[in-house]
Amino acid sequence: MLAIIGGSGLAQFAAHFDNVRRELRRTPYGEPSGPITFGELCGQQLAFLARHGYGHTIPPHEINYRANLWALRDAGVRAIVAVASVGSIRADLVPGAIVIPHQIIDYTWGRKSTFHEGQDCTVTHIDFTEPYDRKLRARLIAAAAAAGIPASDNGVYATTQGPRLETAAEINRLEGDGADLVGMTGMPEAVLARELDIPYAAINVVANYAAGRGDSAEGISFDAIQGILEQSMAQVRTIIEQMIRADSACAG
Ligand code: HPA
Repeated sequence: MLAIIGGSGLAQFAAHFDNVRRELRRTPYGEPSGPITFGELCGQQLAFLARHGYGHTIPPHEINYRANLWALRDAGVRAIVAVASVGSIRADLVPGAIVIPHQIIDYTWGRKSTFHEGQDCTVTHIDFTEPYDRKLRARLIAAAAAAGIPASDNGVYATTQGPRLETAAEINRLEGDGADLVGMTGMPEAVLARELDIPYAAINVVANYAAGRGDSAEGISFDAIQGILEQSMAQVRTIIEQMIRADSACAG
């Protein structure tokens, strides 16, 4: 079963499912962000979890990423597409652009970022050279092309701690490090999926130019781009639906 983890702007994704049911799952790591919504699209079973809670009440640094990933795995999820809005560092990634990122740099701190801890755990190092699943990325890129939706097929995603936005100097530093996009939730979500052996890929929607760039030169205004974000999230839904259709006999 495929799961979608939805961020800002995608909390209503499951409204399009058939035969919907919701399940709240407890885990050894505490409670996930909310109930998992199960349903069908094109006859395929899907799961959906709103990363910030259904009322958008959980900030990035307080999300229980371990409980979210554990609950999805426990529910039978075997692949995850993570959707999140981002700031753009690269001039060509304009607000509204859709990106399937290929790399991550992690600047977060103090988050519970592994299942491998505690007295009974042996020391475990996992490979994370390619943080996103190659096949799942390829399926998303192909689905975007098939749906006629322009999407960049690469991008380096920097994960900052939040909840505040970055300073202009911090964005310059991230660019120097090789980052193209900046968001607050990509890690430890991606690495926890890898620890559980769940193929994981992301779709990012550019909500704004990052601090100090483009029309954010003197500050970031989210209100101005709300309309763009809604339009792009509708395109994200189309890409995911196209990917699911490509897997099934459903033409509609
Ligand atoms: N910075 C960090 N996270 C974000 C941004 C940003 O500019 N925009 C959307 N999420």
